[in-house]
Amino acid sequence: MGKAIRLDKYLADMKVGSRAEVKQLIRKGRITVDDQPATKPEQKIEPGVSRVFLDREEIGYVEKEYWMLNKPMGVVSATEDKQFATVVSLIKDAKRKDLFPVGRLDKDTEGLLLLTNDGSLAHHLLSPKKHVDKTYFARIEGIVTNEDVKAFEEGLDIGEEKKTMPAGLEILESEDLLEGQSKILVTIQEGKFHQVKRMFEAVGKKVLFLRRISMGPLVLDERLKPGEARKLTKEEIQLLKSLTRIS
Ligand code: URA
Repeated sequence: MGKAIRLDKYLADMKVGSRAEVKQLIRKGRITVDDQPATKPEQKIEPGVSRVFLDREEIGYVEKEYWMLNKPMGVVSATEDKQFATVVSLIKDAKRKDLFPVGRLDKDTEGLLLLTNDGSLAHHLLSPKKHVDKTYFARIEGIVTNEDVKAFEEGLDIGEEKKTMPAGLEILESEDLLEGQSKILVTIQEGKFHQVKRMFEAVGKKVLFLRRISMGPLVLDERLKPGEARKLTKEEIQLLKSLTRIS
């Protein structure tokens, strides 16, 4: 596995406690490394080689974690928040303490959100230069037309310096729906604040409901109910990583 790290960092990374708390545990003799009681927080540990125990429980090391969350409404895309529950708090079985969401979904948006501690992968997925497609399902107030499809393709003025990059708009249901609503799929490669909502505002319509269903090669698992999460499979992680290699 990776490089040697300090024992206190190893334990804190794996959510055994804060740095101060794990130092206490070491001082009390409750931590062993390769069957020897540990005495120094700065002792170097080789993850995957040294065996670390708290009392009788082995504390394995996980270097990188990747979770797919079906984000529910009402939860904020942040690691900490004074007022609202965060997406990170929904990953109950996370081993590491340093997960963060890759990008943001609005508080009232549902759907696919990747949480990881892999900063370099996150950077690749979020950079507009990498042209990673993000597809959303939305319910719209108003009748979405073929003119709108063209306008999305050509780029819209949403009050930024530049027009939006070409976006794919697909009408799923339009005229027949009750009360002049439409259902659509929209694919964008950027991630500006409230981007999809602002794009529909630019064509005089309103997003009533928004759910992200894919990000690059990653597709929301239909079995996940809002609020549920699962680890990415090896194949999914490979797909994401291969994306960063070719771009
Ligand atoms: N566009 C939005 O307007 N909101 C989101 O949460 C994501 C994309």
